[in-house]
Amino acid sequence: MSLSRLVLLASAVEISARFQPHQIHLAFGGEPDSIAVDFATDADVNCTSTGVAFGTSPAALNMFVPASSCYYFAGALQWQSQVKLTGLKAGTTYYYTAGSPAIQHVSWSEMYSFVMPDTSPTSPPQRVAIFADFGYFNSESLPALIAGAYTGAYDWVIHAGDIAYDMDWDGGFGKIGAVGSEFLLAVEPIAATRPYMVSPGNHECANNFTHYRNRFAALTNFTAKASGSPSNLFYSFDSGLAHYISIDTELFDEFEGDELVHNMLTWLKADLTKANANRHIRPWLMAFGHKCSYMAQNSSLWESLFYSYGVDMYFCGHVHSYRRWLPFNPMTNVYDTAAANKDASVYTNPRAVVPIVTGAAGCQEPPAAHCNNDPKSTSPSYCGNYGFGILEIANATHAHWTWNTTVPLNGSSAPKFSDDLWVIVDNHGPRTTQQGDASGF
Ligand SMILES: [Fe+2]
Repeated sequence: MSLSRLVLLASAVEISARFQPHQIHLAFGGEPDSIAVDFATDADVNCTSTGVAFGTSPAALNMFVPASSCYYFAGALQWQSQVKLTGLKAGTTYYYTAGSPAIQHVSWSEMYSFVMPDTSPTSPPQRVAIFADFGYFNSESLPALIAGAYTGAYDWVIHAGDIAYDMDWDGGFGKIGAVGSEFLLAVEPIAATRPYMVSPGNHECANNFTHYRNRFAALTNFTAKASGSPSNLFYSFDSGLAHYISIDTELFDEFEGDELVHNMLTWLKADLTKANANRHIRPWLMAFGHKCSYMAQNSSLWESLFYSYGVDMYFCGHVHSYRRWLPFNPMTNVYDTAAANKDASVYTNPRAVVPIVTGAAGCQEPPAAHCNNDPKSTSPSYCGNYGFGILEIANATHAHWTWNTTVPLNGSSAPKFSDDLWVIVDNHGPRTTQQGDASGF
């Protein structure tokens, strides 16, 4: 190859890297027929023309939706774009690429596809992969999660905070925010092919959550807005037989007394009230946030709302391990031992929220490398190794939760561990907030 051709090729590759959208991730769009798309571009794009081309055949991306917003994000030296695809039909496969028709060469991203989720209450049961504390370095669960994305092991994802670890860090790459960008590139096979729903963790707190706010801005523009929330720090959405609520547990630690805390609690109360009025249609109330109550300051502020408004299960991380607790009544500090069967694999009509810690997806702060049934009588299942869980709501009364260790990347011989839980709730709804009887309920 001639030198001039090599130079041309090198410059084409450079242009491609600079203009080609990447870090693509999806979210539920706020309405049953919509999907939210976030993507980033390294170079200055024509914001008036950037967007997503899509269609039902990879050979015919005959629809184009321009970005509803596009701007420079100095925290990662890149342009962020947000697009909302609407009019999508549940169960249909859509192919898409992000880019700008105004830039005629190498401006389009890799082509991805997704099956439009059926979020109706009559949809077949969906499987939700749930984890927290998932970083760019030591991302032990990444191969299993990517494999699961290709094999259809789960339909969509909840990542309950501590994303990339940390998104604002340069990680030694010499570019501000490089760790966040590389992480979002690494999870594209997962996040560009199904909704990747997030909540903020303590590792997202820097500069008032600026990386979280900007890199997941489509959540604010579409999903949160549809749920009456002003930002992606807290929001809710419906899927299948459940109403899902994402909260920012860090506000209580970092912004105690701040207006943000007040705003979130006001929104949360209104959202829980609305969800309860709709429980004959979507009986399950599932919540997620980065910290469980005993890890956070002022947790009683949200914990008491979750209890009294009848939240069924709450998923968190922060502690880098897996732990399933018995249902817990924060009003009386009592665990509902009566709900658990003999081997604690079924909770029947729990009288409080079921808290689950699933913070071991893998990051540079490794978990304890052992798994066993912890001696705690209030926590039937514990594992200190890497893994993630799958939630599947079978019907109006039965929800199934499983958690498995992922294969270690470092060849270590850590033992396999699994947990399996059925939660059975015959009558979903609010709980009394008064002090309990002799049993604590
Ligand atoms: Fe954390």
